[in-house]
Amino acid sequence: ILPHSLRADRSRRCLRSRVVSRLDVQVVPTVPIAGQKTGTSGLRKQTSVLVEEPKFVCNWIQSLFDCLGDELRGKTLILGGDGRYYNKIAAQTVIRMAAANAVARVIVGKDCVMSTPAVSACIIQRKAFGGIIMTASHNPGGINGDWGVKYNTKSGSPATEVLLDRVYERTLNIDQYRTLDLPSDVDTSSLGETSFDGGNFVVEVISSTDDHANVLRGCFDFNKLKSFIAREDFSLCYDGMNAAGGLCADAVLVGELGAAQATVINSLPLEDFGGGHPDPNLTYAKELLEIMDPSQNPSAPDLGAASDGDGDRNMILGKGFFVTPSDSLAVIADYAERAIPFFKDGVRGLARSMPTSGAVDRVAAARGLNLYETPTGWKYFGNLMDAGMLSICGEESFGIGSNHIREKDGLWAVLAWLSILAYRNEGTPTGELVGVEQIVREHWAKYGRNLYLRYDYENVESEGAESMMDYLTSLEENPPTELPGGFVIKSLDEFSYVDPVDKSKAEKQGIRVLFENGSRLVVRLSGTGSAGATIRIYLEYYETDQDRQSVETTSAMQPLVDVALLLTKVGEFSGRDGPTVIT
Ligand code: G6P
Ligand code: ZN
Repeated sequence: ILPHSLRADRSRRCLRSRVVSRLDVQVVPTVPIAGQKTGTSGLRKQTSVLVEEPKFVCNWIQSLFDCLGDELRGKTLILGGDGRYYNKIAAQTVIRMAAANAVARVIVGKDCVMSTPAVSACIIQRKAFGGIIMTASHNPGGINGDWGVKYNTKSGSPATEVLLDRVYERTLNIDQYRTLDLPSDVDTSSLGETSFDGGNFVVEVISSTDDHANVLRGCFDFNKLKSFIAREDFSLCYDGMNAAGGLCADAVLVGELGAAQATVINSLPLEDFGGGHPDPNLTYAKELLEIMDPSQNPSAPDLGAASDGDGDRNMILGKGFFVTPSDSLAVIADYAERAIPFFKDGVRGLARSMPTSGAVDRVAAARGLNLYETPTGWKYFGNLMDAGMLSICGEESFGIGSNHIREKDGLWAVLAWLSILAYRNEGTPTGELVGVEQIVREHWAKYGRNLYLRYDYENVESEGAESMMDYLTSLEENPPTELPGGFVIKSLDEFSYVDPVDKSKAEKQGIRVLFENGSRLVVRLSGTGSAGATIRIYLEYYETDQDRQSVETTSAMQPLVDVALLLTKVGEFSGRDGPTVIT
């Protein structure tokens, strides 16, 4: 456990100021390296590839700097990461290359750790030019796992497709990179500044969590949350999954809101995430699920939560009860104006990625708010937020957030749920706490329930997966009419999106099938893997009958699953008997 690293940090602040006399810039020849195209959320690679080819990182970073161009000169960059293996090595590369490319200051999280939401918060608070985040998000880490890197712009948002495409083009013809010859690595283990060349280049090591905590303090009523957490009949468990999100959860929940030290488990970032898969879902957050299951743990807490490697994803659980991310988004959207001070003057608009269930659409309709349906990936929300059109958004992939920063934010979602619980329990007597499950059931009773399942076929042959998508696209012309279980296709199309702000277009964003009975089927290929292809099939069924809302999801959805398997021919195309993961 890493209790109050923050306090220790504060006392050691500002003690270091090493001066290096001049910048010895080196121009190193290189050749293009294959496989540098970014996916949904940055560049991802098996770590072993980088260990064998250290220029992999140099080539991509120089391509990025080349595309940022002269504007980068004299500016400040934030550098963070999820704590995985190779980040410390890559951080030294980034620092040297930043100096050699005329960046004036690199602000790096202590030990090179800073979650994705924390970097976004830091860019905004410190008015930085941009940020580099070393993360492969929820993919396992270590020498046998993955490594990754992404770039966020000065608004705090992930870089746009336009910039990332240009960076990729550049990686295809790069012939040199610029770096610095330094006698030793820059110390990132203690807070303070290292100054080079009479202050022309500075590396500043800051707390991994302070900026993020400051932003969150401005969104929520911390005093109210503190009193709620102190209730005798309430308890909470947060699983940091040995990654970056755990640090900030520890600093805020324990350090500021007075939760017991044991509230945050696995809070210390480890280079291999303790051997775990830092993805907060029903498959990988086993430890938390056991803690939250009353049949295994009679004193199961009332609220359970977990975040992923880089702290942007979240999972919310009640006592023995799973809240789907799509439902979580809808509930937060519904309560926001009443329960979260940041929205007291009103919510401006709501958004979800296309595969996310339509639960939030019903909240938007009831509250007279605009609802935007975007492609998968957080980068599509940023423009809407900057234009003042969007306040709260989310994705089925366990990401929820708001316009307080420009990334999804695991801890924000947990504080939003705490705020809803605190609001809903104002005045409830001790022992009669209204819990997570009741709040969700009340929501279903009011709006209907969007039952939801996702089938993932991981690491299948790319060729088969692409052929399946081609096949499904070809059905657009002539959709099948004979389907079992009385399912009738209302529409079948390939989703594309025109950004309402800058009019940029994103095409080939997955196949969408709507049925006459209100059910929906979506198929797309994952953009976050590092090898092969992952086919995702998303299934949704809308139920208004309150008695039937309690049925078990898997059995209720079986008829739709049968149709999906038949329609997509996924077994044939993937060569698999069944999915790798069902969430
Ligand atoms: C990352 C992005 C999310 C996106 C998700 C989709 O986590 O940050 O915005 O929803 O990837 O992943 P996929 O594997 O389905 O492309
Ligand atoms: Zn993530």
